[in-house]
Amino acid sequence: MKIINIVGARPNFIKIAPIMKAMKRDNFLDPILLHTGQHYDHILSGSFFKELEIPEPDINLEVGSMSHAKQVAMIMSKFDDVCDELKPDAILVVGDVNSTMACTLVASKKSIKSIHVEAGIRSFDRTMPEEVNRLVTDSLADLLLPPSPDAIVNLKNEGCDEGKIEMVGNIMIDSLLYFDTKISSSDILSRLSLGEKKFVTLTLHRPSNVDSFEALSSILEALDYIQKRVKIVFPVHPRTDKMIDQFGLRDKINQMNNLLCIDPVGYFDFGKLIAESFFVLTDSGGIQEETTVRKIPCITLRENTERPVTVTEGTNQLAGSDKYKIIKFADEIFNGKWKEGRVPEMWDGKTASRILDAIKKSCSL
Ligand code: UD1
Ligand code: UDP
Repeated sequence: MKIINIVGARPNFIKIAPIMKAMKRDNFLDPILLHTGQHYDHILSGSFFKELEIPEPDINLEVGSMSHAKQVAMIMSKFDDVCDELKPDAILVVGDVNSTMACTLVASKKSIKSIHVEAGIRSFDRTMPEEVNRLVTDSLADLLLPPSPDAIVNLKNEGCDEGKIEMVGNIMIDSLLYFDTKISSSDILSRLSLGEKKFVTLTLHRPSNVDSFEALSSILEALDYIQKRVKIVFPVHPRTDKMIDQFGLRDKINQMNNLLCIDPVGYFDFGKLIAESFFVLTDSGGIQEETTVRKIPCITLRENTERPVTVTEGTNQLAGSDKYKIIKFADEIFNGKWKEGRVPEMWDGKTASRILDAIKKSCSL
């Protein structure tokens, strides 16, 4: 079975690594790896291929950055030609980025089967670009592989045929557990002069936070309060870096002596930062999951989450961009009042092997 695995942006690389490994070990599948080029800087793309032992992509569409609609259109146009040339039996997409949706749309128009890993999660917020990508991808995909029971409920509520759904667990956690030793060995703490549990890690890149002056300013005020108590390490996403300048907020950031802004870091370094953080502040999807598995307190700077088990079972709480809420939660952590949480079902490092079983089962039907 010839299958094209699609990646485009940072979180995709972490999800595809264990799937590619499992497919290469198996002689039932003939895997091809396609990179759309949505992310292209070494620190958002190449470094993950190297660290996570992902083979060089067989094809790179090299689309680059532009408006979302143009990016989706460009990926579709180029992927259409690839499908004509390679005639795959199926494609596999992960997550919820523009590349995920664009390639699923092409496959659907060409009657090529598509498989969606991380299907069914919903924030119920259509102003979030990823929510639209999730809805379109899941309504077209032929095999839906959710990470958690809430995602199955969402798919059923949308009228999805139950025969297409197979719970496989969380693929992101396969990478976290597989590379645990390499993560532990990272020397980032000494490079940044950080002590264990003596710092907070922050990431921010959602348009609802960083493309809004009000939201970003409110978050910065909360950060100012927190950095007076504990050092904050902030690997700054390029979208955020651009918006900080555009909104004239650079001086405000530079005035916070205990806020350490650095470039995005590699997977092992970032994993070490999370594992050794006092707590984490983030608007990332994947980091809500990784903190839950690591049992590190996580304050999510969003009003909603498509990963509700990280709140109901894990260490996550939603604060939005409201400075008072962020400070209130931070104070609870400073005062030792936070839940320990537990690891959700099937977030166990065996998801890639369940994905392969589900693909084989669906082929034999
Ligand atoms: C994308 C995904 C988001 C994911 C995030 C992971 C969509 C809709 N969004 O958001 O779901 O959480 O990736 O990090 O697919 N840029 C660079 N170098 C790069 C890539 C981008 O500097 O290699 C800059 C460009 O100025 C670009 C901006 O970052 O305009 C945003 O990139 P884009 O891929 O549109 O979205 P992200 O915010 O990265
Ligand atoms: N990550 C990383 N370096 C960083 C920031 C994040 O390796 O500087 C990893 C993080 O551990 C997680 C993934 O990137 O595995 C999350 O991706 P991101 O936040 O970009 O996307 P999202 O999950 O929000 O879609």
